[in-house]
Amino acid sequence: MRKIFPLSFIAASFFVAAQVLAHQGATGIVKERMDAFKASQTHLKSAVKAAKADNFDETQKLARLLADWGTKMPDFFPVGSDIMPSEAAPTIWSDMEGFKRAATQFADAANQLAAASAARNKEAVFASIKQVGASCKSCHRVYRQK
Ligand code: HEC
Repeated sequence: MRKIFPLSFIAASFFVAAQVLAHQGATGIVKERMDAFKASQTHLKSAVKAAKADNFDETQKLARLLADWGTKMPDFFPVGSDIMPSEAAPTIWSDMEGFKRAATQFADAANQLAAASAARNKEAVFASIKQVGASCKSCHRVYRQK
């Protein structure tokens, strides 16, 4: 037993190290969608900043980027792409229609942000930024696991 303990300990730490590596090492379509999600997070934050500064050209530009991503998003979840280190929930593939609806809701909110920006309506800009944020969260609740 005394000899087995260090061996299994080494095996365990190797396993942990491999997992950490895998998490950093997302590749292919999983990495592409993770990068797109990270970019969308940055865009949303930038939109809040721009809205505070009454920079509605900027909020409109960011809204278009977000809406574009919302339209393309389902294509980034092909069958079989729920592979490590993805946080995609299996529900995406068992309920692809619902997932697409959630992506459309997000794109619609982003399009509203674009329209409010074009109208230079600050109140509507903030209201639609809130809607966009709510659409991120409501999709994550069902279709993302951590
Ligand atoms: C229609 C569903 C849906 C919408 C809308 C959505 N997300 Fe996600 N998001 C996901 C899923 C699914 C994942 C997990 C992807 C994976 O790990 O393969 C994810 C992952 C992420 C991640 C982690 C990326 C990484 O590096 O692992 C961030 C950050 C994120 N989303 C931010 C946002 C923000 C911000 C919004 C709104 C502007 C948003 N998401 C809208 C479904 C959605």
